[in-house]
Amino acid sequence: MKATAKAHTNIALIKYWGKRNEEIILPTNNSLSLTLDGFYTETTVALHEDYTEDHFILDGQPVVGEQYKRVTTFLDLIRKLAGKNIYADVRSINNVPTAAGFASSASGFAALAAAGTKAMGIHLSEQELSRLTRQGSGSACRSIYGGFAEWRMGKENDGSDSYAVPIAPVEHWDLRVAAVILSSTMKKVSSREGMKRTVESSPFFDGWVNSIPKDLEEIKEGIKARNMEKVGSIAEANCLRMHATTLGANPPFTYWHDTTLTVMQTVKQLREQGVPAYFTIDAGPNVKVLYLPENEKTVEKVLREIPGVTDVRLSKSGQGVTYI
Ligand code: ADP
Ligand code: DP6
Ligand code: CO
Repeated sequence: MKATAKAHTNIALIKYWGKRNEEIILPTNNSLSLTLDGFYTETTVALHEDYTEDHFILDGQPVVGEQYKRVTTFLDLIRKLAGKNIYADVRSINNVPTAAGFASSASGFAALAAAGTKAMGIHLSEQELSRLTRQGSGSACRSIYGGFAEWRMGKENDGSDSYAVPIAPVEHWDLRVAAVILSSTMKKVSSREGMKRTVESSPFFDGWVNSIPKDLEEIKEGIKARNMEKVGSIAEANCLRMHATTLGANPPFTYWHDTTLTVMQTVKQLREQGVPAYFTIDAGPNVKVLYLPENEKTVEKVLREIPGVTDVRLSKSGQGVTYI
């Protein structure tokens, strides 16, 4: 009747950016990510026979509106699976800025799916849990697994073959990520709204989708061989192509701030000085920098010195969902 789960966020190296079905969240392309040890959500779901609706408390504050609705709609799916009509008290702590482009929706819905199904007495395989989690937030289906994971878009219209699979575990490769924080305020355009607008109106969208298969195949080879240059350069180019689609949307938008560009340029300079470092950016202004352990001190120092950077948080690769 009560369960707690912990899930980490993930950073997409090949981005999910576009839905072919908004209701059950089916993507227009496969995506691939690295789960991050440094950012996570812990969620407790407690069922109450006497409740007539769900309660959702995030970081100690009762949540209403759209954020509340996303949680209850997702709990409805779990209730349906369990065949139980019982409401829940959901308490969640984000050890990650909410809705700022740090993938709080990924750790948030992965933790909710795990805690919610356990509280309702449902036992799912990781694959089944990933498929369910996908319907809360697409990127969340990859956070079920540790290390590298790929979300296979699937072919079916019912979503039965759309879920993430593990690509390489945490132990495979100590690839690290520095999260360069410029802003932790909520973004104006959510990931959901941003990709919808892009799919509907950006003439660059088809080019983006068509570019994915090659990126995906090559980055998987790079991960297998622990080839930093290959993985980093593909991730960086993929990120730039995703962000290019937003400029073509109507109305046009970008997630970047001026300091976003400065960080990108600094990363390029690091490379020119012989330090293998590559950037990627999700739907927000903050930049994530991929680097290897031996360059940690240099990378951190250089990033912290950039005017406009408020913090740098270093992260290793993280484990999949766990129950507490
Ligand atoms: P982000 O970059 O943080 O993933 P999104 O726009 O994709 O930004 O999603 C943010 C939304 O995810 C929030 O507005 C909220 O609806 C949901 N969310 C974030 N954290 C949690 C959580 N711990 N539990 C449930 N939902 C969450
Ligand atoms: C840029 O998974 O947050 O971070 O499915 O609508 O909840 P919804 O969107 P979300 O989108 C993530 C977009 C991205 C790229 C990625 O994580 O793959
Ligand atoms: Co998100």
